[in-house]
Amino acid sequence: MSQLPRPVRLAGAGADAEQACPLGVCDGSGWILGPEDVARPCECRERRIARRRARGVASTIPRKYRTVSFDAPPVSNMERDPARAPVYRAVKEFVESIDERLTEGEGLWLMGDVGTGKTTLAMLVSKAAVEAGHTGAIYSLPRLLSRIRRTYDADAGEQSYLEFFERLTEVDLLHIDDLGAEKRSDWVLEQLYAIINERYETQRSVVVTTNLSQEALEEQIGPRTVSRLVEICGDPLPLFGDDMRYAV
Ligand SMILES: Nc1ncnc2c1ncn2[C@@H]1O[C@H](COP(=O)(O)OP(=O)(O)O)[C@@H](O)[C@H]1O
Ligand SMILES: [Mg+2]
Ligand SMILES: [Zn+2]
Repeated sequence: MSQLPRPVRLAGAGADAEQACPLGVCDGSGWILGPEDVARPCECRERRIARRRARGVASTIPRKYRTVSFDAPPVSNMERDPARAPVYRAVKEFVESIDERLTEGEGLWLMGDVGTGKTTLAMLVSKAAVEAGHTGAIYSLPRLLSRIRRTYDADAGEQSYLEFFERLTEVDLLHIDDLGAEKRSDWVLEQLYAIINERYETQRSVVVTTNLSQEALEEQIGPRTVSRLVEICGDPLPLFGDDMRYAV
């Protein structure tokens, strides 16, 4: 019988799905078969193991953002808008060097008004990371916090708080959308600090979007957490202007 072609699987189509070798070296199994049928590990194998460990964190790009690209509207329009072009270029450069950026633990911080394209740009970063074979966790802050709360009353067999925390801090990229969009409480401050500080100390990348200015964010999530974000992400990339959700 003739061999069927290998099915092509989409990145993010499910954490379990075996993906084609991101380096184009092995057959997707993580092993390279040598002479006398001796197998040696492909360089992609470590990434595969990391991906398996990252099960239990959300890493799928929401449907709305799956098809966005730097080269097509609406994102490509940013390049011609003098107010947004610098941010467009900074994010594009980040994506073009995604491997190095993640290895160095560098992140991005998109700040600005509602409807200016922050989430769209951040999703482009997450998409590039997942497509390059890195592990990622993608959450809006409210969703992340309710996920953490759920681990508290986890039954036996379900993921415990510690397991979830470990996975969240181990992935190559943590993407938190809408930072500051949550009622402030000691518990929230503590959670965020623990996550961001752990990633800061282990030099792991973070991408955040927020409607708040740096000062307002310090007020909302605490200066200790914000100062670590500045270390990881550098200065916030500002996106201001009209809400494009209402643009014709
Ligand atoms: N450069 C752009 N030009 C026009 N519309 C855009 C652009 N970038 C994103 N959009 C659209 O504007 C809306 C808001 O984008 P989003 O990224 O969710 O904004 P934010 O996260 O800043 O609130 C979405 O419907 C998105 O498709
Ligand atoms: Mg948003
Ligand atoms: Zn491989």
